[in-house]
Amino acid sequence: MTTALNPADAAFARDPYPFYAALREQGPAAEVALSNGTTAWLVTGYRQARAVLADPRFSNVPAPRAGGSGRVGPAAGARSVLERHMLNTDGAEHRRLRRLASVAFTPRRVDALGERIARLTDTVLAGLAARLENEEVVDLVDDFAFPLPVLVISEILGVPEADRLDLRTWTYRVGSPVGALAPGEIDEAWQSLHRYFTGLIADKRRQPGEDLFSLLARDDDAEALDDAELLAMAFLLLFAGYETTMNLLASASLLLLGHPEELAAARREGEPRWAAVTEETLRHASPLEGTTWRRTSEEVDLGSGAVVPAESSVLVVLAAANRDPEVFPDPDAFRPDRFAPGEGRALPHVAFGHGPHICLGARLARLEATIALPRLFDALPDLRLAADPDTLPYRPGLLVRGPRTLPVRRAR
Ligand code: HEM
Repeated sequence: MTTALNPADAAFARDPYPFYAALREQGPAAEVALSNGTTAWLVTGYRQARAVLADPRFSNVPAPRAGGSGRVGPAAGARSVLERHMLNTDGAEHRRLRRLASVAFTPRRVDALGERIARLTDTVLAGLAARLENEEVVDLVDDFAFPLPVLVISEILGVPEADRLDLRTWTYRVGSPVGALAPGEIDEAWQSLHRYFTGLIADKRRQPGEDLFSLLARDDDAEALDDAELLAMAFLLLFAGYETTMNLLASASLLLLGHPEELAAARREGEPRWAAVTEETLRHASPLEGTTWRRTSEEVDLGSGAVVPAESSVLVVLAAANRDPEVFPDPDAFRPDRFAPGEGRALPHVAFGHGPHICLGARLARLEATIALPRLFDALPDLRLAADPDTLPYRPGLLVRGPRTLPVRRAR
């Protein structure tokens, strides 16, 4: 029997792991019936997740909807332009878009952002500390985990400060599952994003700045990105780059506050331990719960009885693969020592994906976390959780996962 799944369910959003563990019992990939009336194959095994992500028979190009695009009107037009980004392409087209974007994400360029990230972190933390002087409880998502990645991605895109809150609202809305918001709100957000990025690109073409996006917007190369491709690229960088990193920072803070011995070890041991905390958070609380959707071009046998028919929708559940007990013993435990350097180190997690679409911003995300987390707990060593972690609200849906609020206070 096909298992039913409602991704908008609040209890599932808070703790989807028992569901995934039960699904894995059926096999490393199993078919589920989604609440929107469609069915999909969810891949929960680690080895199968990597196999699918490296296999060209699983296409990233979204399936045409029955009866045409199914979308009409300005919001649909905006959405279809913004969604034509590299994560939705395969083969040569993907390689071209990725190569052009890669110039902005070389190790040298990313590492050069380190000092700026440290300064931005200190500004955010000064605001957080000031707030804690006046208010007993503050939200670590609103006052730390959200502003920092938005500041960093805005630096990359060259987005003025006054516009950053709008970008957050629009991105949140377009990433919400069908049914979680009024349809009008989602449509309006697609149009707002389209309008905003159209203006931003015109500005960058007219007056390039120091930001990495200006580098992508230069049109002195015959192969350069055209306006529609740049629009989609801006959207992808925002969409892929900020909420994921926000969730990484929020989940790492939550886990460390709940594991004071791990926090103490990281503060004592310094950099390599913070790197291990970051890797273990990525595994344990994967900020991207599932990859983007894939579609099989033909029947694929994944082994262990999992035969995925042609034309199936497939979701690689990174959060589940990263808790596969065959690869990560005691998978539900938060144990940064798994990723400590040296012998016995765990296999790499798949939180950044695998194969040709592996995350382009992984180095940046790791840099942000390993700069921001030690600074947070150095500035506020007496920070404590001010809520029961089991009652925190989580964002619904199968794509991104992290606490939506994280109330904290200072120890008295
Ligand atoms: C903790 C933070 C992050 C996580 C967990 C994460 C995770 C991922 C994953 C799993 C994929 C592959 C998705 C798929 O195969 O369907 C991906 C792709 C991508 N990510 Fe990230 N990401 C993070 C941060 C960032 C940042 C900071 C940026 C850039 C500013 C970024 C840019 C991208 C881009 C451009 C792609 C598409 C690559 C392609 O299609 O070739 N990501 N990310």
